[in-house]
Amino acid sequence: MGAGAGSSGGSAFSVRWGESMAGTFETVGVVGLGTMGAGIAEVFARAGLAVTGVEADPAALERGRGHLEGSTGRALARGKLTEAERAEILGRVSFTTSLEDLADADLVIEAIPEVMDYKRALFTDLDRVCKPSAVLATNTSSLSVTAIAATTTRPGRVVGMHFFNPAPVMRLVEVVRTVTTDDGLAGEVADLARRLGKTPVTVGDRAGFVVNRLLLPYLNQAAVLLENGLAGRDDIDAAMRLGAGFPMGPFALLDLIGLDTSYEICEVLFRETRDRRHAPAPILRELVTAGRLGRKSGEGFHRAEEPRSPSPHEKPSAASVAVLGEGAEEFSARLSGAGFKIVDPEGAELVLALSHTPVVERAVRLPHPDRLVGLHLVGDQVAEIASTVLTSPDAARVAHGLLRIIGRTPVPCRDRAEFVVDALLYPYLNDAVRMYESGYASIEDIDTAMKLGCGYPAGPFETLDRLGLETVRDGLRALYAEYREPSFAPAPLLDQLVTAGVRSIRDLAP
Ligand SMILES: NC(=O)c1ccc[n+]([C@@H]2O[C@H](COP(=O)([O-])OP(=O)(O)OC[C@H]3O[C@@H](n4cnc5c(N)ncnc54)[C@H](O)[C@@H]3O)[C@@H](O)[C@H]2O)c1
Repeated sequence: MGAGAGSSGGSAFSVRWGESMAGTFETVGVVGLGTMGAGIAEVFARAGLAVTGVEADPAALERGRGHLEGSTGRALARGKLTEAERAEILGRVSFTTSLEDLADADLVIEAIPEVMDYKRALFTDLDRVCKPSAVLATNTSSLSVTAIAATTTRPGRVVGMHFFNPAPVMRLVEVVRTVTTDDGLAGEVADLARRLGKTPVTVGDRAGFVVNRLLLPYLNQAAVLLENGLAGRDDIDAAMRLGAGFPMGPFALLDLIGLDTSYEICEVLFRETRDRRHAPAPILRELVTAGRLGRKSGEGFHRAEEPRSPSPHEKPSAASVAVLGEGAEEFSARLSGAGFKIVDPEGAELVLALSHTPVVERAVRLPHPDRLVGLHLVGDQVAEIASTVLTSPDAARVAHGLLRIIGRTPVPCRDRAEFVVDALLYPYLNDAVRMYESGYASIEDIDTAMKLGCGYPAGPFETLDRLGLETVRDGLRALYAEYREPSFAPAPLLDQLVTAGVRSIRDLAP
């Protein structure tokens, strides 16, 4: 299996060829001018297409017009558009509350709320109003495109066209073809996305497509680990930002996406996969029920205006430190250079056990097990500090201060397999391998989707190469042994590659 191989949206069932194979899209309709629709209308208009924006009622239509004027106005203020360009863009968009005005559109994209009954009703109407050759696209994030297509008499002309927020800025578009989509149509829509200046990734109709399918389980797991008391909210956020290089920590991102939306997407994933990891974390349900939806409601995991938790800045009082584990010599030298006295573990006031696996076994072998903490250096900025059930609060505090002094962000956590960063990162990488292995998307498409859709500095396969397949495989085994979570078991392909001594999964692709 190589790059671009396989798809769940196979063409074997596609029997009808579209009427406009030339695939010229000149007039488009956008239904729903909310957060996404207004942005999508702007994207089309910027690319020179004539756009008809449709809203449910005159008040919503005015709001939609306001979104577009506001967004292009900001672009003008920032010098990204001239006054003339802005006028041209706005001049290409007409506004209406009548679906009948879409009769001549070559393509209509739907961006109304994520409720299946609304989408079904709309697609039934669009099917009646639009010319037979028109392509009907949905911007749904998580609903079945196949089920939406099935409400029309033209399932062959229905695709998903999943833009990201904010649509004018985000380059990724996931083009979704179903088993009934006409051969070649997804390619035409992908060409259109390129014409809009976007980077399309074409995939089959699976819940969450590429980005949400890989992103939400990671965010959900962060919530589960928070509930389990592995580490604190801000510590997990800092660990993933500074340790994994993600642009935002999981809780900041959950608040941005909206906890209700995140909950719903997890539900949809769970319904399709029955994977326990996709079942929304109970804390998500609780926060949503309490009305804490994230930024949109003012507070979610974070409360607006909350005081930042004071970081303990006290100077560590440990006169003597011991370092154990791989890399102990080098790290001792570093501490010594910073003025700490390095001694044997038996007499040390603080024992740092360099490790990425639980350290309680080492603690119990010492005369003072309460003085030992696990220490995992992640990248060049983060230090995870694992307290065992025996660690004294004093030792943990001293370790915290010491790591700050040598310029690392301390991430206090419990003594669990792979601590924080790797416990969140490895299952995500494993999911990406499984996704590729199942033939859903190519390595390049998955990497591209995660970089452009989430702003990650590297795609999961690039990250795998950097960390080493064996390291990740072994980490997953440790996670599986600790949590007994079936989907933490290394993907068979990952296991086989390591066994075969293959260094990069890319070496498989032709
Ligand atoms: N918000 C995001 O970050 C995001 C990202 C990608 C995809 N999506 C998807 O895009 C779609 C829209 O999401 P949103 O966040 O823009 O929602 P939104 O609530 O901001 O906007 C929806 C708009 O649709 C209008 N509307 C409702 N019923 C209508 C009808 N029958 N005809 C015409 N207009 C109607 C509403 O008045 C509203 O303005 C959803 O399917 C969502 O899953 C959202």
